[in-house]
Amino acid sequence: MSVLCRFIRSRAHRLPIVNIARSIGGASTEYFAVTYEEHGDPMKVLEGKTLTFETDPSSLNSNEVYLRMLAAPINPADINMIQGVYPVKLTLPLIAGFDGIGEVLSVGSAVKSFQSGDWVVPNAVSRTSIGTWRTHTVCEEENLWKIPNDIPLLSAATLAVNPCTAYRMLTDFVDLGKGDVVIQNGSNSAVGQAVIQIAAAMGLQTVNIVRDRPNNEIIVKWLIDMGATHVITQEFAHSPEMKMLMGTMRQPKLALNCVGGKGIADILKYMERKSTMVTYGGMSKRPLMVPTGSFIFNDVRLRGFWMSQWNKEHVNSPERREMWHYLCGLVRKGRLFPPIYRTVPLEHFKDGIKRTMEPYTTQKQILVMDKSLL
Ligand SMILES: NC(=O)c1ccc[n+]([C@@H]2O[C@H](COP(=O)([O-])OP(=O)(O)OC[C@H]3O[C@@H](n4cnc5c(N)ncnc54)[C@H](OP(=O)(O)O)[C@@H]3O)[C@@H](O)[C@H]2O)c1
Repeated sequence: MSVLCRFIRSRAHRLPIVNIARSIGGASTEYFAVTYEEHGDPMKVLEGKTLTFETDPSSLNSNEVYLRMLAAPINPADINMIQGVYPVKLTLPLIAGFDGIGEVLSVGSAVKSFQSGDWVVPNAVSRTSIGTWRTHTVCEEENLWKIPNDIPLLSAATLAVNPCTAYRMLTDFVDLGKGDVVIQNGSNSAVGQAVIQIAAAMGLQTVNIVRDRPNNEIIVKWLIDMGATHVITQEFAHSPEMKMLMGTMRQPKLALNCVGGKGIADILKYMERKSTMVTYGGMSKRPLMVPTGSFIFNDVRLRGFWMSQWNKEHVNSPERREMWHYLCGLVRKGRLFPPIYRTVPLEHFKDGIKRTMEPYTTQKQILVMDKSLL
């Protein structure tokens, strides 16, 4: 499988399993999907199945779109959803996957926003409309968001969740000017890599904390090459040398927290007075340990961010169009690349799941339905 990083749940997700592929009027009446009927260990509860569409996709309802999925990353939220520990609870059985990209094959008579050949991602208006780990789907027009199809496919496949999250956190919480400093943990995550690249394009400096590991210099080099100003380990952040490093730059106005736990204190003590920490992930599975003094003497502001909620609140907003325009522009300029990745054929999804659940990989697993991506 080659190195590498695309989505949608339709009306068909609870349909009976069939064994023989067939097609009517040029549209496939069956599709392969990664499904689960109960929560638990993804390696045990996920199953690959051939499902059949409720109605023939060659005779779509007027508001429906028929798609082939191209690629879909495996994100921590997907794993948590399957495990049953994600805060959003959906009725089972389900098709897994929140993120990814599809290509429009045909549209119903009343569909105005899409045409054949367009690339689309989930619109996030309805969680029940998603389920991206599949080959084909039929879904309603309102559940799709069109994105440009002149950028590399794997960039497009990985933009909707992680780089959009990075972009919003860098623009919505604090006014940042050129030379200002942003500090983050989990910096080798897909979000962290997007933060580094977008911040560099904005002229910001970044201090990037990663977990220590053998051969850490490889991660350091990767992140520096992406535009990181400094890459340090959690141990360094806790050491007296950290004070010296932070003394060479402006005090951070913004901190981005992917991890939680007690390492938060090592970040907050270097932050500017009235600065903001935005929490978007909880990878350590530990609560935030915030020293009382950070509130009293530094008046620190603790905020949270959830991309799905932002999308719901800004479905057809100028801000959302502007964000996509900006991010696709960075991709075209060679300033924003997909996270370090590995492509995995959809039918080998367990291989991608296993790798995702291992620590210290720094490699986004991307399920691909289009074999030319392998
Ligand atoms: N709020 C939102 O809207 C939003 C949007 C996107 C993502 N997220 C969240 O952001 C986080 C990162 O997502 P992603 O797709 O970027 O992840 P990813 O690429 O899969 O990377 C996972 C990261 O978590 C780190 N990690 C794993 N276990 C850890 C532990 N016990 N302690 C400290 N670090 C640990 C990994 O570091 P190692 O290399 O050291 O293992 C890696 O940096 C997830 O929690 C995800 O749910 C939230």
